[in-house]
Amino acid sequence: MPTHVIILAAGEGKRMSSDLPKVAHVASGRPLLNHVIAAAAPLLPANTVVVVGHGADRVRSLLPDGVVDALQADQLGTGHATRIGIDALGAVDPDDIVLVLYGDTPLLGPELLADLADLDDDEAARLISADMEDPSGYGRVIRDERGEISGVVEDRDCTPEQRDIDEVNAGIYAIRAGRLTETLKQVSNDNAQGEYYLTDVIGILVAEGDKLTAVKASPQEVMGINSQDQLALARKELQRRTTQRLMESGVEIIDPDHTYIDESVTVGPGARIYPGTHLEGATSVGAGSRVGPDVFAVDSTIGESSTVWYAVLRSAVVGDECEVGPYASLRPGTVLQRGAKAGTFVETKNTTLGEGAKAPHLTYLGDATVGARANIGAGTITCNYDGFDKHPTEIGEDAFIGSDTMLVAPVKVGDRAITGAGSVITSDVADDALAVERSGQKEIPGYAQRREARKAAESAED
Ligand code: UD1
Ligand code: CA
Repeated sequence: MPTHVIILAAGEGKRMSSDLPKVAHVASGRPLLNHVIAAAAPLLPANTVVVVGHGADRVRSLLPDGVVDALQADQLGTGHATRIGIDALGAVDPDDIVLVLYGDTPLLGPELLADLADLDDDEAARLISADMEDPSGYGRVIRDERGEISGVVEDRDCTPEQRDIDEVNAGIYAIRAGRLTETLKQVSNDNAQGEYYLTDVIGILVAEGDKLTAVKASPQEVMGINSQDQLALARKELQRRTTQRLMESGVEIIDPDHTYIDESVTVGPGARIYPGTHLEGATSVGAGSRVGPDVFAVDSTIGESSTVWYAVLRSAVVGDECEVGPYASLRPGTVLQRGAKAGTFVETKNTTLGEGAKAPHLTYLGDATVGARANIGAGTITCNYDGFDKHPTEIGEDAFIGSDTMLVAPVKVGDRAITGAGSVITSDVADDALAVERSGQKEIPGYAQRREARKAAESAED
């Protein structure tokens, strides 16, 4: 039975106190709306339509391929929005199942949606309900004396007795397409908010004798995000789920409460993650690596059996058996090949360190290519920027760059070549050569005593 998905995301979300449309706020590396789209994806919907309104362009820009938008220019209610969504669906058979979801419920799981969509042949609709400690603000699920659902009443339209009901409508439904279209036509805006309520469809279905059931969810799973503190709660829960999943796959996480890993990140078994680690976007960590404490890695790759601590990695690639940090900044375009090291207070940008090459301390390497096994002495700097343009530096295999060498780019240092400590290298160095650029050392014997004597004479005069 083809399934179609309509996601309502036209509302304003004023309480977020932010210019960003509510559903565009990011949790675990993904906008809220995209969490909902992802939760529905395993159902392989024939069509997915997102109803946009406030911040429409911004929300449209979030839509993955195959998901279309429909504009609700004026927010006249969830029933009105659903009607606009239906009109934008492709070919639909009356028996097809339409899921109506909200764009601000990022904790929704695919299992719950699978239960929701699994209508019996004679069932017209299914809704999700949850027992809330504090149901205020939600629509209440009204049941008759046999326990069958007889309708949903909005908080503002409740009688005092109805207000005491703690089973609330999560606002998430699976409804046969034909019945949804027919009942929506009968929905009016004669209520406390003057809106066309999608929830009225439930009462109409019951009145017309349709079979209707509810699946119970935990309040948390159907939580809608309306404020920054609810957003923070959702982030915590997504973080908990991700670290849980990784630990079950054999990743050692020292303190899951203080480890922040986007859902999109992969971590190999046997890796150990220390607290204060943020792994974001298209980041991966190989088996057996140690990451953290205090690592911030975005869109970066860390290979197997590497150690990365107290470091920032942005679009960087760290191979197997590498060492990074403490206190290293690997900027975009950095590649560390197997066994390479970018150690304490080392910054790299658009730079490749070949296999086993090492920059252990206090170094800036920009637009540089460093050959295998080369050693970069402490304090080495590639002077890659002349105030107008960036220039490349090439360092050969097994080269030995003396401490405090300034490499004024463009410049090449050959294989096995050596630079003397403190040299400012402005021209290319041939393979196997030594280049030294500094003034000769002068020595004055007995200078210390002469200085003492001069000082003593000066004091005697005073
Ligand atoms: C809705 C339900 C309520 C349920 C609650 C659960 C209705 C009438 N009420 O109330 O029973 O307990 O959700 O959270 O459906 N939207 C549009 N266009 C509109 C209006 C809303 O796209 O014209 C979208 C919003 O962006 C939002 C969703 O629909 O994603 C829900 O709208 P909202 O106004 O927040 O509904 P609630 O009052 O929370
Ligand atoms: Ca509302």
